Amino acid sequence: MPDYSLGLKCKLCGKLYPKSPINFCTEDFGPLEVTYDYAAIKQNVSREKITARPRGMWRYREFLPIEGEPAVGPQVGGTPLIKADRLAKELGVQKLWIKNDAVNFPTLSFKDRVVSVALSKAVEFGYKTVGCASTGNLANSVAANAAQAGLEAYIFVPSDLEKAKILGTSVYGANVIGVTGTYDEVNRLCTQVAFKYNWGFVNINLRPFYAEGSKTMGYEIAEDLGWRVPQHVVVPMAGGSLIGKIHKAFNELYDTGLIDTPVTTKMYGAQATGCNPITDCVKSSRDRHKPVRKPNTICKSLAIGDPADGIFSAKLIKDTGGWAEDVSDDEIVECMLLLARTEGVFAETAGGTTLAVARKLIEQGRIPRDEEIVICVTGNGLKTQDCVAEAVERHEVIKPSLDAFDAVYTGAPAGEAVLV
Ligand SMILES: Cc1ncc(COP(=O)(O)O)c(C=O)c1O
Ligand SMILES: [Zn+2]
Repeated sequence: MPDYSLGLKCKLCGKLYPKSPINFCTEDFGPLEVTYDYAAIKQNVSREKITARPRGMWRYREFLPIEGEPAVGPQVGGTPLIKADRLAKELGVQKLWIKNDAVNFPTLSFKDRVVSVALSKAVEFGYKTVGCASTGNLANSVAANAAQAGLEAYIFVPSDLEKAKILGTSVYGANVIGVTGTYDEVNRLCTQVAFKYNWGFVNINLRPFYAEGSKTMGYEIAEDLGWRVPQHVVVPMAGGSLIGKIHKAFNELYDTGLIDTPVTTKMYGAQATGCNPITDCVKSSRDRHKPVRKPNTICKSLAIGDPADGIFSAKLIKDTGGWAEDVSDDEIVECMLLLARTEGVFAETAGGTTLAVARKLIEQGRIPRDEEIVICVTGNGLKTQDCVAEAVERHEVIKPSLDAFDAVYTGAPAGEAVLV
């Protein structure tokens, strides 16, 4: 299959660059983005052609910047869009869906989407060693997908990350380097390492290709709604890339004739108050975000103090007529439990953040109660169990007898004979 991507373009000055492992403009340090021949894509895609393919992100192959077939992650994506009626009732809204990337394959977060594109591109460019700077989920995904592709992986993370996210990286045989610093310090170090050793870092020199993988969440939402886009989408933000790519996906679907009406979706960004550079930028009407030097939140996956796409995501949110909010750690935990209790979805802290922000925006009247809302859940609760451990009710432990259970069930005072 042909590669419809044309090259890279600076998001600030528009200067064009060939397809190569670079991520910033040499004129103004602006980030680079992949450009495509949309006229050619339009001639070659149709709803029928796409839906005849296996479910998964690669059914949108024409919109992704690789040559031939994907070398990495052929089974990624195709996660459920859940009609969340019980949660809708609790929030007092009428039409609500959860896009559930907590069950993405293979590492239970939306990062598998970006990594499959980045590592497919890394193989194309001939890299044998790959890496990333990560707040956790990306680490898991690069490690697993690199293992499957037979690539050597060096994964750099802040050393205070959740245990499950470190273990869920080391288990794949990756070289894990814990760094005593913030994500931004880890990222700076990785830029130096990528340059010195000439490795393919998915979110540094491969970032323009990597970021395109996030668009597939948007295509899937539209397809599962019956080839149309929702009125409101709430998205978690760390680097601020995903939110813009979902919106870019909606516009691409319209531009290539796959959806019929122009996109008027309002985009809403979610962060934790303990690390809120982008939501603060939106709420205070600043042109550019003020970096958060020392993030302090249980939502470590979103704790990027100086987001690469901060300025662009804040602008996008305002341009679409959306808004951004941040929430406390208590609200994050409360909403992790709310989502689990109403919809049977155990999301990580980023999911709790996104739901808590959606609830706040609904209460503020910014998201109308009678319009269509999609909440993006991007990571799995099994990786951040410690955060809810205190908040869930302690379970009963009984002796293996019916009397013992009867006492618990009826609330009758239990004697020592029945309780352990
Ligand atoms: C679970 C989860 N959700 C959302 C995001 C945010 O994505 P972005 O950095 O594209 O804003 C991340 C980033 O690490 C994440 O781990
Ligand atoms: Zn430029």
